[in-house]
Amino acid sequence: MTNTGIASIGLHLPTLAMRVDELATLRGADPDKYTIGLGCREIALCGDGEDVVSLAVEAAKRALSRWDGDLQDIGMIAVGTETAKDMSRPLSAWVAGELGISGQVRSYEVKHACYGGTLALRQAVEWRLSGAARGKAALVIAADVALYAPRDPGEPTQGAGAVALIVGEPTVARVDPVSYAWSEPAFDFWRPVGQAFPSVEGPLSLDCYMRAAESCFGAFAEEHGGLEAALNDLESVCFHVPFPKMVKKAVRHVAERSGWDAEKAAEFYEQKVDPTMRWNRVSGNAYTASLWISVASALAGRPIGKRIGAFSYGSGFGAELLLLDAGPEAATGAWAADVDVDLSARQLIDSSAYNELRA
Ligand code: HMG
Repeated sequence: MTNTGIASIGLHLPTLAMRVDELATLRGADPDKYTIGLGCREIALCGDGEDVVSLAVEAAKRALSRWDGDLQDIGMIAVGTETAKDMSRPLSAWVAGELGISGQVRSYEVKHACYGGTLALRQAVEWRLSGAARGKAALVIAADVALYAPRDPGEPTQGAGAVALIVGEPTVARVDPVSYAWSEPAFDFWRPVGQAFPSVEGPLSLDCYMRAAESCFGAFAEEHGGLEAALNDLESVCFHVPFPKMVKKAVRHVAERSGWDAEKAAEFYEQKVDPTMRWNRVSGNAYTASLWISVASALAGRPIGKRIGAFSYGSGFGAELLLLDAGPEAATGAWAADVDVDLSARQLIDSSAYNELRA
């Protein structure tokens, strides 16, 4: 009954990127602020002909290509995004059109800032567990192009990317039906209808993220004999990564609330959290895809049965801590090739090319 989860993963990063120290020079900022203060390295950017649909479609094709089912076995396509093309027509319709998916399929878009992809995944898992899926699989995609207004403090945290997950037999990872959600209405980051770039209350957004982490990990700890016992069970803990320093702050905050000293929190972060962000450091904040880029990285090469945590955060705000157990196909981590292919093909641009792109 509870045997459902991720059957295949596909990732896609766009063809352009820029180093954040190059952006710092362009903006007259100290590069250390971006690289050390925020922990950023590169931001992924879309080139000509690339957009949220092309990112989502390519990630989906890659996930489908290494799955042993076919399109007739897909009964749901759900796209989590905050880069919607339309207020009515769901992004899933563009993606399904490109992939040739139609018929007895539930197709829709999920919006809740960076949390939308996780909600789509939860819905797919619960749809399978309910029996409504009648054995069919779901194609869940988290895809975004994250741009701030030029010179916005969020500019060094931009990024883009897509992760496609086929939800079916848990060959890559079993998703635990139990998760720990938390939400509080807030205006920490939002984008009103018709506004090109988000509005952000920076310091409030940091507080909301930390409060959300404290609440989700607190509930998890309470059910598992305290934070230490709960986290000992996890081989890795993945987070939504708006920028790596945010994750470090959240870990420190959660640990402090449980009475850990700074040294113990730092050791936990170095061992179980920091390594999961190797791909996030080259994608930047890919909004809904960010957490799933980290999860894909943490699952690749993971021995069967090993458990990881996945903390999702979306402004507004909603958050959820998920638990996943590596399946038999995690050890080979075939989807790591997607990132290798994209990184070796992509072009690093300089500030003048970036100015042109933004113009
Ligand atoms: P800011 O105000 O320009 O930066 O923007 P700051 O002055 O707060 O400095 C940042 C850090 O750099 C600080 O470190 C400074 O000390 C350090 P901290 O004290 O915090 O540890 N610093 C330096 N370090 C070394 N050398 C230097 C130097 N100068 C300063 N010379 C802010 C920062 C995060 C607010 C901005 O980037 C922003 O608005 N980002 C977007 C919002 C965001 O990412 N929020 C995160 C939580 S909300 C979230 O995750 C949801 C989101 O993904 C959206 C969604 O859900 O859809 C955003």
